[in-house]
Amino acid sequence: MGKYALNTWYPIAWSRDITNNLVARRIVETDVVLYRNSRNHVVAHKDMCPHRMLPLSMGRLRGDAIECGYHGMTFDCSGTCVRIPGQRLLNPPPKIDTYPTYEQMGLVWIWMGDPTMADPSLIFDLPQYHDANWSAVEGDALELDCHYLNLADNLCDPSHVSFVHLSTLGTPAGEDVPVRMEMQDGHLVTWRWINNSPAIPLFQKFGNFSGNVDRWHYYHYYAPSIAIIDFGSAPTGTGAQEGNRSDCIQIYACHFMTPVDENKTIDHWLHVKNFHADEATNRALSAEFRKAFQEDKLILEAIHKNEQKHVNHTPVKLALDASPIKMRRMVADMIATETAPSMVPSTV
Ligand code: FES
Ligand SMILES: [Fe+2]
Repeated sequence: MGKYALNTWYPIAWSRDITNNLVARRIVETDVVLYRNSRNHVVAHKDMCPHRMLPLSMGRLRGDAIECGYHGMTFDCSGTCVRIPGQRLLNPPPKIDTYPTYEQMGLVWIWMGDPTMADPSLIFDLPQYHDANWSAVEGDALELDCHYLNLADNLCDPSHVSFVHLSTLGTPAGEDVPVRMEMQDGHLVTWRWINNSPAIPLFQKFGNFSGNVDRWHYYHYYAPSIAIIDFGSAPTGTGAQEGNRSDCIQIYACHFMTPVDENKTIDHWLHVKNFHADEATNRALSAEFRKAFQEDKLILEAIHKNEQKHVNHTPVKLALDASPIKMRRMVADMIATETAPSMVPSTV
């Protein structure tokens, strides 16, 4: 069985970072070179010249074509070789692997599997991102030295905020509140409500709450690499849990994970909130998220090191693991479906 689901769209870069220059990225253990062509389309090729294997990202752009930095073999946007300096083109011309891309929610998405299945309508979209009543603020591309499923564990796990994020996203009030999970339209939701308790530090800074609040965390996981954390607070007693959110702060903290390889993950994060704020407030809010995600990074990287040191350790399972276990099963099912032998009728 393969290590990664391939017939799916993965985020690979912020759109803002892909211009008319060569950019090297790595995803599912494959090196990719990206650039934006004159038609504003993001081109993605395997980052390796078929001649002596020099990364093409070390070459240069000639118009919309990429020229190898060693002997000048040149490939067009379709990956077809269009020039070999000093000789006639080979017949058929060599071709390098090229991957479909699409831009959505400020990100470049890439399809590393069967290109005939790359349907852009399958790419995740958050309606609030496009809603004028909400506002979106892009964050960073956070590098974590861990497997992406360990980050996904963390993003199916609301319970950790009571211990990891006491200065930003959590309070001790939630320590003993169990989490619940269910499947909704093919994605996994893990949630809990913490009612009638003080606002989390983030909302003490950015909210206008004078008393206790009812707080929710809904962690939505879309296999294999997207997590959308819907969290918010409303004054206690205003019926938020029953659906009245007229007086609340609500934020979708979005995590778009790039599985680089077994030891590295990029978390492209952004937040979409139900209010507009000035530049300074948005920057301050992003700074709080940055601080919280550094707290996760510290933990996940330490765990990754221990996993490599203690490969035979069998983790104790807790009730809160139900959702991460389900998450890993979803990914394993995707991979198994892709790698299952096709049902070819046998001939007698
Ligand atoms: S290594 Fe690319 S042309 Fe020779
Ligand atoms: Fe966290």
